[in-house]
Amino acid sequence: MLTKEQQKMYDGELGEAVQQSMEILVAMGKIYNADKMIPITSAQVSGVSYKTIGDAGLEYLQDLVKKGAKTRIPTFLNPAGMDIEQWKEMKIPEDFAKKQIQILDAYSKMGIMKTCTCAPYFIGIRPKEGEHIAWAESSAVAFANSVLGARTNREGGPSALAAAICGVTPNYGLHLNENRVATVIVNVQCKLGDIADFGALGFAIGKLAKRKYPAFTGIKSATEEQLKVLGASMAASGSVPLFFVENITPEYNVAEDAEEISFTEFQLNNSKKELDSKEKPQLVTIGCPHASLEEIREVANMVEARKPTCEFWVCTSRKLKEEADRIGYSKIIEEAGGRVVADTCMVVCPLERMGYNVTGTNSGKAAKYLPSLCKQRVAFGKLEDILYR
Ligand code: F3S
Repeated sequence: MLTKEQQKMYDGELGEAVQQSMEILVAMGKIYNADKMIPITSAQVSGVSYKTIGDAGLEYLQDLVKKGAKTRIPTFLNPAGMDIEQWKEMKIPEDFAKKQIQILDAYSKMGIMKTCTCAPYFIGIRPKEGEHIAWAESSAVAFANSVLGARTNREGGPSALAAAICGVTPNYGLHLNENRVATVIVNVQCKLGDIADFGALGFAIGKLAKRKYPAFTGIKSATEEQLKVLGASMAASGSVPLFFVENITPEYNVAEDAEEISFTEFQLNNSKKELDSKEKPQLVTIGCPHASLEEIREVANMVEARKPTCEFWVCTSRKLKEEADRIGYSKIIEEAGGRVVADTCMVVCPLERMGYNVTGTNSGKAAKYLPSLCKQRVAFGKLEDILYR
C-alpha cells in the first residue's frame, strides 16, 4: 500500500510529526480498505475556532509544532472564532481572543495560509475537475466535489492536517469513480428564487437523503452562490458531501435503481417555516458559507437604498473584505449600521457571549447550527425579509 517514501514517513525517518500524520492516514486507509495513498494538490483544515477545538485542540496543535510539523502542499484554514482585526470593536472576550491568536500562530508555524474561509473557491482556490484534494469543512467539501468536480472525502480537522503534512490521502470513498453516483433523484417542481429558497431546499433534502448522494432535476439555472448554499444546507442537515444538478454540475451520475422523490412548493414553504421562529432578529448574519463579492455588492445596494432595522454582518474572507473596502461596499454597509466581518462567521464566533439571542440568516446551514452551537433563536428568510422585519 505504501511507496518507499511513504514507508519512510511511516517508519519515522522524516520526523515525529510526519510519522504521527502517516499513522493517522494508514489507519484510515485500513478502515476504508484503501489500496494506496494518492497525492493531493491542496488541503483545507477545519478546527480553527477556539470555540470548537478548545484547549485540548490548541495543545494538540502546539505539540505538532514542537515535533516540527510542516505542510508539503498548499494548505488553507477554515474560519476562526473572530475577525483578526476587528475583534476588540466586536466585543470578543479577551480570554477567547488570546487563545484564538495562539491557534492561528500554531497553524502558521506549520506553513498553513491564514485564509480563514469556508469558501476558498471565491478567492481563487479552485481545484480542477478530477483533482484529488483533502478538504475538511463540510460545505467546502460539497462545493469542491459537486460544483468544481474535484475529489475529496469529508475530512476531519486532524485527517486534513495529516494529509497536508504528508501530501497524500488514502484512496477510498469519493476519490473513486464508482462511488460518485447518486442514489436519489430529486425532481424539483417549484420555482427557486433567492439564496433562502436554495437553503430551505437543501435543508429538507439533506434530512431525506441521509448521506445518500442526491441528483436534482428541474433546476433551470443556479448561481455558484445558490449552489454553495444548497450544498452547505444538505451537508448540515444530512452530511451530504456530493450532489449533482442536471445540466449544471460537471458530473451527473445516477444509479439505475435510484429512488425518485418530488419537491414541491408546499415542501419548500414547510422547510422555511421549520427554520423560522418568526421573531425580529437583533442581528442579521449573511454569508454562510462566506459571501462572494457579488453577494457583498448585493447587500450594499440593498442597504444603501433602505437602512435595515437591525444590526447586520456580512461574513466573508479577509481577501474579499479588502476588495469590498477598496470598492467602497464596506463603507456603505457600515453607514447602514452593518459590518463586513472577515476570518470568522456567525456560528464559530462566540455569539452567545456577545449579547445576542435572536439571529437572522438566509442560510439553511446557519439556521441549523445557530440554536445548538450559539444558543440563538433563528429568524430565517430572504434578505429583504430578515433585514427589515
Ligand atoms: Fe462557513 Fe461558518 Fe457557515 S464556517 S459554512 S459560514 S457555519
